[in-house]
Amino acid sequence: MKILMVCLGNICRSPLAEGILKHKIAEHNLDWHVESRGTGNWHAGHLPDKRSIAVARKHGIDITDQRSQQIQQKDLTEFDLIYGMDTSNYNNILKMTHTEEQKAKVKMIMNEHQPGYNQSVPDPYWGDDGFEMVYQMLDNACNAIVAQYTS
Ligand code: 4NP
Repeated sequence: MKILMVCLGNICRSPLAEGILKHKIAEHNLDWHVESRGTGNWHAGHLPDKRSIAVARKHGIDITDQRSQQIQQKDLTEFDLIYGMDTSNYNNILKMTHTEEQKAKVKMIMNEHQPGYNQSVPDPYWGDDGFEMVYQMLDNACNAIVAQYTS
């Protein structure tokens, strides 16, 4: 299974989602492939935000191998599941889809934890203290993804 995590800049939320899910995949010996993207291209080639690197490290996860990339049309074909972090990401990804098959791959990540709530993972970029909460939300979502697809 190939899973894509998508936020706006691909430096704060989706790199954490990628790192957390990869960590769980390794723990469960799953043969899954995970990457992340941003809907925007401002940070293309950049490392994750220092604050995301720090909160991941605090929880034993290294995300410094990641570099920001903008989502491309081919990603909609290549990946099986595409998770938007918030409603804006979700709607922007949906606008890129051309087929019902592609549309069906696109989901709000927190709906894996609380189905139907359409809860957004808040963008922590402009504040200083949102990163631990974002980590916890994404940890819950990634636990639910692993549970759902391994049961
Ligand atoms: P992310 O956070 O979408 O979680 O990576 C952001 C990073 C950068 C910007 C906005 C959100 N920005 O405006 O540069």
